[in-house]
Amino acid sequence: MNAKAVKDVLKAHVGRAYAPYSGFPVVALVEAEGEAFLGVNVENASFPLSQCAERNAVAAMVLAGKRRLERVHIYSPQGPIPPCGGCRQVLMEFGGPEVEVVLHGPEEEVRTTLGALLPLAFRL
Ligand code: THU
Repeated sequence: MNAKAVKDVLKAHVGRAYAPYSGFPVVALVEAEGEAFLGVNVENASFPLSQCAERNAVAAMVLAGKRRLERVHIYSPQGPIPPCGGCRQVLMEFGGPEVEVVLHGPEEEVRTTLGALLPLAFRL
């Protein structure tokens, strides 16, 4: 997807995040095998059950039969945020250090890679 289209889709879905406890909505879009899959964070009154946007996007990707991650986009209206440690490991399951990770704010972007975010990743 081109950069403008990605940013528009991310912004269009921020209202779908369910983040009543943190007030911190996040949207993730993963590109895999030529398709794009979205996820938002879904929180719960039992806080540890909350799910991150990235992991929900990965779940949508797997359900669609795709497993080769090419690029990951993460959007926060508060500015670019890096993925949490757990999500880095989950993303690494379906990609390698070369996977591009783009951290989006409303206007700005920070580009990095999964390898930079999770060096020495655990693998079986
Ligand atoms: N969150 C994500 O969805 N992805 C991340 O990588 C970092 C944190 C969510 C979890 C929680 O719903 C809220 O942001 C505040 O931590």
